[in-house]
Amino acid sequence: MAAELNPLQNHQQHSTTGYDERLIDRVKELFPVTATWPDEAIVENIRYFKEAAEHMRGYCCNIHPLDPRHTYKAPTERPGEFEVVQCPKAWETGVKEAIAEANLPKRFLRLKLSDLDGEEVRKLFDYVNGFEALKREGKGLLLAGKVGVGKTQKIVSLAIELINRYLTQVKFFTCQQFLDLHKAAMKDGFAKMKLEEDAYKCELAIIDDIGANRFSEYDQAAFGSFINERYNEMLPVILSTNLSKADLTELVGERVVSRITEMCERIVLDGPDRRTRRGE
Ligand SMILES: Nc1ncnc2c1ncn2[C@@H]1O[C@H](COP(=O)(O)OP(=O)(O)O)[C@@H](O)[C@H]1O
Ligand SMILES: [Mg+2]
Repeated sequence: MAAELNPLQNHQQHSTTGYDERLIDRVKELFPVTATWPDEAIVENIRYFKEAAEHMRGYCCNIHPLDPRHTYKAPTERPGEFEVVQCPKAWETGVKEAIAEANLPKRFLRLKLSDLDGEEVRKLFDYVNGFEALKREGKGLLLAGKVGVGKTQKIVSLAIELINRYLTQVKFFTCQQFLDLHKAAMKDGFAKMKLEEDAYKCELAIIDDIGANRFSEYDQAAFGSFINERYNEMLPVILSTNLSKADLTELVGERVVSRITEMCERIVLDGPDRRTRRGE
């Protein structure tokens, strides 16, 4: 069985070229860019071809399962020259794990950002394209709009795009989940760790649906300390709310809104309630 794992593995050294002729043919078949490579250049670099074949077939993940960013050397058209490329299978595995760990609500996983319509989608793509620089500045987004305009859908599709593109560590909470976790963290060490590691320290925190419920004084303090901490550490947040700026200020307080305004580009979503339009 093991010999079948790598198509180049079971070819042994041979007399004339030092290698089985079939091995060279097999390399040329697997790596069409080597069509003009002389046989000796292939033989000299055979260990790179064996490694690359493993990555291309996805078997490398049995060898390096822990690093989604690992790379391998792929042949170029220039004989004897290789270039470093990202292993596709490892990236794909990392993406699946990152999506599973982001706590994104299942209903919204079906639509990609490119499936969505509307002027705002272009702004979301701008955010994705500029994410690496924006992240360093701690810049996020605030999506504002009435119930049913597609805020949660857009946030989730955006998160998936960021994960696919950069393997971003995203953590999604509804505002209620976030506040509940804050309360649980007072008595429960595991919840405390989760709150700190996930909400406070993750690369990108999402809090969806601010304003769906009233805030107690405690909730206001909890949300304020979260925003303050991420602001100080220059860590981005993506927020959504159905409230106007004035109502948001009343809910979370002026100091917090002032920080949010500095950290987040406000994108206003308009349009009909997609749920009632479809009769949900
Ligand atoms: N651009 C879109 N194309 C198709 N369906 C969408 C789109 N945006 C939202 N939806 C669907 O419309 C419904 C309401 O969207 P949602 O994101 O929950 O709105 P909000 O969070 O603003 O209340 C959901 O079922 C969602 O999947
Ligand atoms: Mg929503």
